[in-house]
Amino acid sequence: MFVSLQADRLYERVRSVILPAEWSAFAGDIDAILALKRERNAVILAHNYQTPEIFHGVADIVGDSLALAREAMKTDADVIVVAGVHFMAETAKLLNPGRTVLIPDLRAGCSLAASITAADVRLLRQRWPGVPIVTYVNSSAAVKAESDICCTSGNARRIVESLGVPKVIMLPDEYLAQNIAAETGVEIITWAGHCEVHERFSAADVHQLRAGHPGIVVLAHPECPPEVVAEADFAGSTAAMADYVTRERPARVVLMTECSMSDNIAALNPDLEFVRPCNLCPHMKRITLPKIRRALETMRHEVTIDPAIAAAARRSVERMLAI
Ligand code: 13P
Ligand code: SF4
Repeated sequence: MFVSLQADRLYERVRSVILPAEWSAFAGDIDAILALKRERNAVILAHNYQTPEIFHGVADIVGDSLALAREAMKTDADVIVVAGVHFMAETAKLLNPGRTVLIPDLRAGCSLAASITAADVRLLRQRWPGVPIVTYVNSSAAVKAESDICCTSGNARRIVESLGVPKVIMLPDEYLAQNIAAETGVEIITWAGHCEVHERFSAADVHQLRAGHPGIVVLAHPECPPEVVAEADFAGSTAAMADYVTRERPARVVLMTECSMSDNIAALNPDLEFVRPCNLCPHMKRITLPKIRRALETMRHEVTIDPAIAAAARRSVERMLAI
């Protein structure tokens, strides 16, 4: 059907979400990337928000931020290409200092990571002496270096409770912090950072979805405002939402999160109905097949971290992984 046998075989995985004509347009880049990976001894880590042609077509390791951080350490590849945003590539580099880590577009940022600087964290520490600082991995290495421990949306509650203290500072996602505070007895001091994708969902959206799609099961990411999480049937990280769908097999479901995520899960569950309000992350969408191909051809853009901050940032990530 397609020019390439490899792309032809891979099409089976995505046939419910990508049209044959679209896939034909992707086939050349997919073949070239698969060959370049072998040539460079490279692996591609892809976050759940990557488009299906990347997620199902060329990625070796897929998952949420926590899974990507853990799996990055297990690879014996010389080169790691991160199909995700800059903080994910920095985390991969922190955990793999001897490997070459590439990001296909240096502009793939994150509104949460951009909301806070290392100087802000130092001021917070002065303001709240002795209160541990838990920092979401959606942050720069410089911010991680000023923190006591990292967390992801998948382990935030466990990390906060593991500290055994009555009060913590949790940065930079205000809504994640508020959602975790609602689940624990720990007082949480927040920072006013927001994810530009998830902050757009509202409780009214959930009401409208329930009215328009009877019986729909609503899953929400904890970066959504607390009013959305309160209205949802389940809240969890991108991996937790994928696991929920696989386990519970809701006949009709909506994921209040970035919209490629629904495409990627729908491809694996063509018998379920996914209602898809589409909120795109412009940063995640900067990563494309042609840019991944170019990254492997030119070995750019290499992610480096100032050695003066790398050791402290790595310590915060490793403390999280140890819990
Ligand atoms: P998780 O995949 O860890 O749930 O994170 C979501 C996210 O917004 C990453 O940018
Ligand atoms: Fe950042 Fe939100 Fe985009 Fe994730 S979805 S990279 S948190 S802006």
